[in-house]
Amino acid sequence: MLVIAHRGASGHAPENTLASFRRALEMGARAVEFDVHLTLDGELVVAHDDDLRRCGRDRRSLRRLLWEDARRVDVGSWFNPRFSAERLPRLDQVYDLLPPEVEVHAELKHGSAVYPGIEERALDLIRRRSALRRTLISSFDHAALRVVRGLDETARVGYLLGLSTLEKAFREMKTLRAESLNLSRRQAGPRAIKAAHDRGYKVLVYTVNTPLERDRFARLGVDGIFCNYPELDLWRS
Ligand code: G3P
Ligand code: MG
Repeated sequence: MLVIAHRGASGHAPENTLASFRRALEMGARAVEFDVHLTLDGELVVAHDDDLRRCGRDRRSLRRLLWEDARRVDVGSWFNPRFSAERLPRLDQVYDLLPPEVEVHAELKHGSAVYPGIEERALDLIRRRSALRRTLISSFDHAALRVVRGLDETARVGYLLGLSTLEKAFREMKTLRAESLNLSRRQAGPRAIKAAHDRGYKVLVYTVNTPLERDRFARLGVDGIFCNYPELDLWRS
């Protein structure tokens, strides 16, 4: 079972920062997840929320901010003052940091309805970094996944179930040629897991943060867990 460092090693460092990705690598993470947004002037940035309120003590929405302003926001101090040098990372900076053997789970928080052209920009960057094979593009926004698939036949797609029904998800996943069904812990019961496996999909579960839960999902046969503590990977080097 793959342990995917959720927002980096976000139990140890501020989520979705270069510090959290560095920490994940130091801890031997084999895969990393992060969330992607777009600034007003079209920079792909890595953050979880639509605005910087929680992680940057700044009320502004990313989609209304120019990169020039967004890049100045301290996104580390909220976690611990010793991370006060952390700034909002761009997607290309994150790719530059992650070595080629690390699998990447890039979650688009919104598609073009909110961030015009985000799918194409993300794909362009991933291709420029020769990272198509090691990246799964996932989203709760299934329209975004359809755009991704329309733009690239080879892109790897992860389907976040969200509020969808399993029935609808499987219909869409077939058209999308999705690779994984990504479920919350509550959604990931034995029946959903089996139904996905029977159809040839991997099952990835978020967010699993204790050894007990890790072992439970391993026994249920899930293929990967998103985890804030990469040290829970028993197979790490
Ligand atoms: O991609 C798995 C997980 O990250 C989805 O939820 O809110 O942590 O982005 P969230
Ligand atoms: Mg995420």
